[in-house]
Amino acid sequence: MDKLFITCALPYANGPSHLGHLRSTYIPADIYARYNRMKGVDVLFVCATDEHGTPIAVRAEEEGKSPLEVASRYYNMIKEDLDAFNISFDNFTRTSDPQHYEIAQKFFLKLYEKGYIYEKIIKQPYCEDCERFLPDRYVEGICPHCRGEGARGDHCETCGRHLEPIQLLEPKCLICNSKPEIKESKQYFFKLSHFQDQLETWIKGNSKLPPNVKNYALQWIKEGLKDWILTRDMEWGVPVPLDGAEGKIIYVWGEAFLGYISSAAQWSQDNNLSWRGYWDDTAVHFIGKDIIYHHTIFWPALLMGYGCKLPDAIVAGEYLSLEGSKMSTSKNWVIWASDFLKNFEADILRYYLVINAPLTRDTDFSWDDFQRRVNDELADVLGNFLHRTFSFTKRFFNGKIPEVSNLDELDIEFENKIKKTPQKVADYIENYKFREGLVEIIKLAKLGNKYFNDKEPWKTIKTQPEIASNCLYLCNQLAKNLGVMLTPYMPSKSLNILETMNIRNYNRWDVLSDLIPSGHEINKPKPLFSKIDDEVIEKQKELLYKTLEGEFDMKDIITIDDFAKIDLRVGKVIGAEAVKGSKNLLKLMVDIKDKNLQVVAGIAKNYSPEDILNEKVVVLVNLEPAKLFGIKSEGMILATEKSMSILTSKNAEIGEKIK
Ligand code: 2FM
Ligand code: ZN
Repeated sequence: MDKLFITCALPYANGPSHLGHLRSTYIPADIYARYNRMKGVDVLFVCATDEHGTPIAVRAEEEGKSPLEVASRYYNMIKEDLDAFNISFDNFTRTSDPQHYEIAQKFFLKLYEKGYIYEKIIKQPYCEDCERFLPDRYVEGICPHCRGEGARGDHCETCGRHLEPIQLLEPKCLICNSKPEIKESKQYFFKLSHFQDQLETWIKGNSKLPPNVKNYALQWIKEGLKDWILTRDMEWGVPVPLDGAEGKIIYVWGEAFLGYISSAAQWSQDNNLSWRGYWDDTAVHFIGKDIIYHHTIFWPALLMGYGCKLPDAIVAGEYLSLEGSKMSTSKNWVIWASDFLKNFEADILRYYLVINAPLTRDTDFSWDDFQRRVNDELADVLGNFLHRTFSFTKRFFNGKIPEVSNLDELDIEFENKIKKTPQKVADYIENYKFREGLVEIIKLAKLGNKYFNDKEPWKTIKTQPEIASNCLYLCNQLAKNLGVMLTPYMPSKSLNILETMNIRNYNRWDVLSDLIPSGHEINKPKPLFSKIDDEVIEKQKELLYKTLEGEFDMKDIITIDDFAKIDLRVGKVIGAEAVKGSKNLLKLMVDIKDKNLQVVAGIAKNYSPEDILNEKVVVLVNLEPAKLFGIKSEGMILATEKSMSILTSKNAEIGEKIK
């Protein structure tokens, strides 16, 4: 591989970036891009904002703005977020760019001309008042599968099923609330079914598709592929480039993929170089697991139809929950990238989100765990090793890498570990096992501390200076290698390490086999990683849990799976106390018969002090801890006022289990 085309899923321009995006897609892709550049691969790393689709159009209507204005706002925010996290794109454009329109339309036309796109008249909801068809999210109603309310024309949030707009029961126009008619409309379909066998062969034969991606894809293939509606009747989007298709646009998923190409094409123009050689050599997509279907089925089928090389690998990051619960941007149960940076450095998060779990597993962000890892691993292991190495070198060797002679067994063993680790890390990164690579690096830093302790240079410097010299010689070699190997993971911190060591031109993986010569002078060390105080974390938790003060429906942030795990008991509130820093939250003491529980996050206005004193308040408490919001107190109250009054009227027994 000489050239490498890397992409990240295009973020929708309808909200800023949050930790989930960074974890599943941008940070892994950036590690991969930086690593490959260090290996001398010619990398083209591109992305763009995905600016079409009904959510952006609906939002614009609600705000009384144009969709482009809304998209521009978020394009700027997202770009700032990703820059701040050091995501090293070569180009970051927008799908509202005219060049994207042109590329997407040409692509559509070619598929049409080759007979892979055909016309069909279908029934669609039409709003007489708004005088338009209601695609996707423009219509809401009741889900025909689970009877969930507020299901949208394309998707039911309650049961997670894909829907067609005409399937909705009791449909309503999202804009004017009136009941739509059903009207016929001509749409264009992509012959996805035609590619069934070809896709199956490709997916099965592709050794570079990670197992999680492959398994999902094969499952869908097994279910059988249906043709796919590729157009919509609406204004905001890329117009269908055919006569007789006025007022129709290409469905957002039918053109967003082309954003990979149009971003590369823009880069080509700006740099007077062709992007083709990159795609044709090796193309790797980084995505979140929710869009594996689109990238393993739709996109390859579109490319097959067009007659173009397929991507070589698709890497899918799984979900990140927050304090044990599903993230929800609409409920603000989320940590925004820009908010995180108000208190912490980007690299610290890059570290945490990678070390936390393999990319192929769902995982959780919790403030306590974040603090623990930063303090125990970055400060105590890595920071400590680097700091003691540099300050000892400064103090006892005039800041110069000491001489080396007569290495003993322990030295040689240590030296071998230093030499062997880079290849291990490289293998992991090349196989998208970013966590495993980082674990190796931290293990080596840990070993560095142990070696330093065993060699006791603070003693031997006086009695057997040769031992101390050898020790610091090797520790400095390790420090350099840590700085280099960490560059893809923590680019700013690595730069600090290597600047402290007065090393330039380190941005190549092969520097790892070089040795810093004795006599090389390092700079004055500065502390690199500091610990995070408890108060800082408490403050973050308080800010987050304030979200719970608002009125919202639990089902919006708790998944169906979570519900199945809940162990609900009837309890009686027997005491209450204010939560520090919050006007509206109470810590409640709840009696559930066998034991008393302390529960956080009771909403104060729901509990009158008098009723609590008289032990009149009955609540439902979940006994399954850490599943919901991950609050450390043992249980969590999950009942609306309504359900509580029903229970009271039924004379529910304290301690009773509710099914
Ligand atoms: O799911 C999403 O966030 C989409 N905006 C991803 C598009 S990726 C590609 F198709 F462009
Ligand atoms: Zn449903």
